[in-house]
Amino acid sequence: MKVVLGVAGGIAAYKAASLLRLFTEGGHDVTVVPTAAALQFVGAPTWAALSGKPVAADVWSQVHEVRHVRLGQEADLVVVAPATADLLARAAHGLADDLLTNVLLTASCPVVLAPAMHTEMWEHAATQANVALLAERGVHIVPPASGRLTGADSGPGRLPEAEELYAVCLRELSHERPRTTRGTAPVVPAAERPLEGWHVVVTAGGTREPLDPVRYLGNNSSGKQGYALAREAAARGAAVTLVATHTALPDPAGVDVRRVGTALELQSAVTALAGDADVVVMAAAVADFRPAAYATSKIKKTHDRDDPDAAPTIALVRNPDILAGLVLDREGAARPVVVGFAAETGDPEHTVLELGREKLARKGCDLLVVNEVGEDRTFGKDDNLVQILRSRGDGEVDVTTVGPASKDEVAAAVWDAVQLLR
Ligand code: CTP
Repeated sequence: MKVVLGVAGGIAAYKAASLLRLFTEGGHDVTVVPTAAALQFVGAPTWAALSGKPVAADVWSQVHEVRHVRLGQEADLVVVAPATADLLARAAHGLADDLLTNVLLTASCPVVLAPAMHTEMWEHAATQANVALLAERGVHIVPPASGRLTGADSGPGRLPEAEELYAVCLRELSHERPRTTRGTAPVVPAAERPLEGWHVVVTAGGTREPLDPVRYLGNNSSGKQGYALAREAAARGAAVTLVATHTALPDPAGVDVRRVGTALELQSAVTALAGDADVVVMAAAVADFRPAAYATSKIKKTHDRDDPDAAPTIALVRNPDILAGLVLDREGAARPVVVGFAAETGDPEHTVLELGREKLARKGCDLLVVNEVGEDRTFGKDDNLVQILRSRGDGEVDVTTVGPASKDEVAAAVWDAVQLLR
């Protein structure tokens, strides 16, 4: 696909180099269009070397090719990362004072803008009005992530990681949306944002229960499935809060990420959010037990020669079942829809599906996504085979099998199933 990667003049311009790499490794034909200010941050040789093409920086070079018109017309996607406050203002008001703004005016393909700037500039009424205007015209705005900005301050304004931006761009490229006629903007059809107006809470990762300052009880969950669910819900228009526990994944673009450590911390975060949520998806692997006592100093082995194999016995206590608690708390109300995940290995007497049915009945949630785990299955892997179980209320259960499919495809199937519950 033909991609124009616009880069505006912000410190996050260096992150666009990673995004460019992802595009070229994915086989896309990328033309980089930096603004003059962007070239102060990252020079033309970097863009040329990484894209394998001359850099298109101004309207006055190669004029005979009429690039200020052709680049936009021929592109399958235009993405600007980072989009500064200045670039957003110029784009919103239709200025055409450099090559990048010319491209934005001539593009009839999807346009993705990823703003990045200081929090004050992002929150300023002028910037927000420009963003609203662009979004209204069908431009896909990837909201900035929260976190450390240039210098010591932090807040919303950070450019999401390249992997996240790439995922958003691939989604835009995969939409078979008719090209608009010149002069009108591509508008995202409402059917593609079916969760608009919903607040969804997704948990992801695996809790850790500390034993002493250096040890914990944990599990192998990578968080990938939960992150895919959060990303998919955001793409469908939902306001998403992701409660993440011990993951090493970049924050999904446009998602409010809260980090917690233990099952009890996860429980208080989720319960506080559930009252205001339309859906809660419990994809996190929650430890069922925690050490009964936390040792404030490292537990040492004894050096008793008569008993060289002496080892401590660790007493455990039960953690609350957060999912079951959510079902109880809603007391017959329809909201929030509660979705559970079940990691099962099966046993000599029961198949994975039988254990899933039993768990659905026991937990009382609306949907249970059952996946088979084991030595080499599911945890940390990119592909998943799942069965989505839906209780019909009369004791009957509908089963939908998905996969083997990527975690993104599983996430899409889960949201399809949730949408059917409306
Ligand atoms: N879960 C939870 N609180 C717990 C344990 C699990 O909310 N203390 C949630 C998980 O997030 C998941 C679902 O319950 O959505 C099922 O998790 P799983 O570990 O498969 O089930 P368990 O409740 O631990 O049941 P069992 O011990 O029988 O496997």
